[in-house]
Amino acid sequence: MQIFVSIPEVKARVQEAKSGGRSIGFVPTMGFLHEGHLSLVRASVRDAGFTVVSIFVNPAQFAPHEDFEDYPRDMERDLDFLRAEGVDVVFTPPRDAVYPADYHTYVEVHGLQERLCGNSRPQFFRGVCTVVLKLFHIIEPDVAFFGQKDAQQSAIIRRMVKDLGLDVRIEVCPIVRDSDGLALSSRNAYFNVDQREAALCLSRSLDLARAKITAGERNTGRIISIIRDEIEAEPQAKIDYVEIVDADELLPKDKVEEGDLIALAVYIDHIRLIDNLII
Ligand code: PAF
Repeated sequence: MQIFVSIPEVKARVQEAKSGGRSIGFVPTMGFLHEGHLSLVRASVRDAGFTVVSIFVNPAQFAPHEDFEDYPRDMERDLDFLRAEGVDVVFTPPRDAVYPADYHTYVEVHGLQERLCGNSRPQFFRGVCTVVLKLFHIIEPDVAFFGQKDAQQSAIIRRMVKDLGLDVRIEVCPIVRDSDGLALSSRNAYFNVDQREAALCLSRSLDLARAKITAGERNTGRIISIIRDEIEAEPQAKIDYVEIVDADELLPKDKVEEGDLIALAVYIDHIRLIDNLII
């Protein structure tokens, strides 16, 4: 596995692999890898001839009051994981290579970026799209892998790729959960034992919603109430949003249909978690 920090050097290595006829799979990450990331890496190693993983904690997707400085980082551990998965290249650029001091250009996907998480994190998707587009230009992957856990992010990236006519296939891989249902997230590292237990109300509420829908319920208002009641029963939890939307435009639905997205964001004390379910 080769590790690059320089943009020209990683570009040259990837171009060499391309000219050798290998298809390029790309997994962008912010590091502190867990099984969720590794499921994307495995999909890439399976699907593509050459896998590139980026590790870059992207300052543009954090608001000044958010956890950019404290975001968990462990480069050595991440590199060990990636080596074991058979990754070809890790790209971990310094901040000023991605955002030089005179940087001015940002990418926005209007409409989609304002919904769901965009309400409480207005800067977030602008930062995500900007860095992902920059990374796509550097790596020029044939296929890029994202997690369903970040359902809105995946929908926005798909839209950016379509709108800008980018020549990359987007693959969205299923959510990976701990055995008790908690969706894996780098931010789970912040939890103490009580908070982690409280966080299970998210997946429990989605399980209740799934059971209700399987039993025939289609009214989104009633399904949302079931989810809210379950989360509100947990004293440490505070709901940011619970919504049922279509999976492409992310617009609210009255009646739930196959393919729709139930998305929620909940604070457990000060730690903000997201989870979702595709019907
Ligand atoms: O999902 C993430 O980890 C980040 O939002 C991404 C896609 C790596 C962009 O910084």
